[in-house]
Amino acid sequence: MTRQQYTHGHGHSHAHGHGHSHGEGHGHPAKAEVADLLELDAEVLGPYFDGIAEWAAQQAAAEPRTVVDLGAGTGRGSIALARQFAAAEVFAVDNSPLMLDRIREAAQRGGLDGRIRPVLADLNADWPAIPPADLVWAASSLHEFQDPDRILANAFSALAPNGLMVVIEMDSLTRFLPDDIGPAAPGLEARCHEALAAMGWNSYPDWRPHLERAGFEITAQRSFMAEASHSPSAVRYASLYLGRIRSALKGTLAADDLQTLDRLLDPDSPDALPHLSDLSVRVSRTAWAARRPE
Ligand SMILES: C[S@@+](CC[C@H](N)C(=O)[O-])C[C@H]1O[C@@H](n2cnc3c(N)ncnc32)[C@H](O)[C@@H]1O
Repeated sequence: MTRQQYTHGHGHSHAHGHGHSHGEGHGHPAKAEVADLLELDAEVLGPYFDGIAEWAAQQAAAEPRTVVDLGAGTGRGSIALARQFAAAEVFAVDNSPLMLDRIREAAQRGGLDGRIRPVLADLNADWPAIPPADLVWAASSLHEFQDPDRILANAFSALAPNGLMVVIEMDSLTRFLPDDIGPAAPGLEARCHEALAAMGWNSYPDWRPHLERAGFEITAQRSFMAEASHSPSAVRYASLYLGRIRSALKGTLAADDLQTLDRLLDPDSPDALPHLSDLSVRVSRTAWAARRPE
């Protein structure tokens, strides 16, 4: 069962970049793995991006007709936006052909391919040729760009007066493990996340002053949380994610913590993730809504 929770307040800020922004082509394993992680996140946690899109609708001055999703990934934001704004055309921009293929497939599955337009563009280079926008959305992507302030300035110019910019980031890396999974010392996942933060995973600033410097007026900021309990997909998600963490932290994490991760990831171990009954998937995101003044 997926439980969704929406809470007020502002979380802040250290989380990861699932990927890196060098434009990788079809079939690149790292990019495919990132795409799989994004799809598993959406599958396991359910349509909680719909709640963020609904919140965006409350912030918008008028019903958006042209929406731009920057760094759209596998397209769950684009899909949520197309569902929320039934008259809108959604331009899903990404520099990865593989991601755009996944977006096309997801749009077709959802019967939204008539309104979701995949756009291949490297946002570190030029702003793509798309019509003036009423809503620009950047989820877990702004921190990936080389010069986020330039992207915000471009978004400001691309928006119509009164248009809305929504920036979303993860408050922390996705969590799966209970604090105490003995015989390891409690807090294994927290130690992993601390080490990854030191390596710069998903690090980003408070975007509020950046949005203001670009000329926007902040209208709202909110946290969105979602949680799902043990399921076969949750186990697949945890295995892929913790496997990625395991490779990143080889040589950094203490030997006994690495051994515990190995046991969790070894399908033949009695401690393997499928047997961990209190495994759950927990995410938290902060969203900023900002208006281009008239
Ligand atoms: C962490 S994913 C987020 C995907 C999606 N917005 C979501 O929330 O599920 C970041 C995305 O930004 C894209 N990206 C990174 N650098 C980019 C660039 N320079 N131009 C266009 N897209 C880029 C990546 O290919 C990836 O799909």
